[in-house]
Amino acid sequence: MLSRRRPDVTVVGAGPIGLAVAWRCAIRGMQVTLYDPAPGSGAAYVAAGMLAPVTEAHFGERTLTALLVAAAARWPDFAAELADQTGRELGYRTEGTLFVALTSDDLAEAERLWTYQRDLGLPVTPLRPAELRAREPLLAPRLRGGALAPDDHQVDPRRLVAALRAAVEAAGVRMVTQPVAALAELPATGRVVVAAGCGTAALTGVPVRPVKGQILRLRAPGGAAPGFRHVIRGYADGRSVYLVPRTDGEVVVGATVEERGDLDVTAGAVLELLRAASDVLPELDEYALVEARAGLRPGTPDNAPLVGPLPGRPDVLVATGHYRNGIVLTPLTADLVADLLATGVADPLLAPLAPDRFDMTGSTCDPVGAGGGAEPESSRAGRKPWS
Ligand code: GLY
Repeated sequence: MLSRRRPDVTVVGAGPIGLAVAWRCAIRGMQVTLYDPAPGSGAAYVAAGMLAPVTEAHFGERTLTALLVAAAARWPDFAAELADQTGRELGYRTEGTLFVALTSDDLAEAERLWTYQRDLGLPVTPLRPAELRAREPLLAPRLRGGALAPDDHQVDPRRLVAALRAAVEAAGVRMVTQPVAALAELPATGRVVVAAGCGTAALTGVPVRPVKGQILRLRAPGGAAPGFRHVIRGYADGRSVYLVPRTDGEVVVGATVEERGDLDVTAGAVLELLRAASDVLPELDEYALVEARAGLRPGTPDNAPLVGPLPGRPDVLVATGHYRNGIVLTPLTADLVADLLATGVADPLLAPLAPDRFDMTGSTCDPVGAGGGAEPESSRAGRKPWS
């Protein structure tokens, strides 16, 4: 029987971050209520689920990279605990990620990035074409080279959300499937955690904006597993693409990076993603195209998340702005927030994520056609906006 006493914590938003925050608070003994009209239907429903501290380490983002490394280190224990407590399969796989480059120009660009990553001390091992094909025989014969990032793993975000929903239910979290249009609408509560992705802007004024990603799902013929095991980050004739194989036969092909807030799927995006995917792994031409969808990453001006108290509202924490890294950051964000709520002491990892590092006057999260903000990383690198 659920207790109806005043909650210690109200969480707004039941994507992976909000669900995991609710779970971690509940298992620390807090009374938790979680609001979302459609749990798990936001960015996580579209996301590929790459746990990629190394291949997502971009120029000029050292602080964020250190955070991603710390976050990825929590995944083995988090996945084991969640699977153990719920009896659910998460699609967590640790075969690693391959960079592959098709042309010499692609190789030069990919090398520039992994040289930077290696200089940071991150594990990336360059591989010759024959070494790549020894690992993945279905890779295109004409590719020029690549590298292995063994610490970049994957999980299936849809399975993750299902498991977290089971975990919060078992932990006694009260789920309310109603929208929250304003924090003032919430019944008298204790502390509030707003983990509503892009919607956090309208609720709190923090500067998150939508960064659209279009993404495809393919399925291997005959119900078989895909013919490759690693996550593949392909550079193909000036395009970039990632391919994420699941044991159930699904292959996720992503993704565009667009400074827009609509959810349209465009013919051009589908064409370019499939062209790059097929160039890297020609066998994909035989796979069924089963889904094409767009999602909205919650982006921030410096690409790092916003986690901590809202300026002037110590009773309200935000946990949003996880941009391209929401799935890998889920366990870390949840524990940092739950520990802060339980002890009142902020972990030093929270310092660079404080929402008050930005001016919050006039921020918006316009749901359609939002422009401005930071340039997408794929454009900074001079590539077409598929990354
Ligand atoms: N994490 C990859 C993406 O956001 O497309």
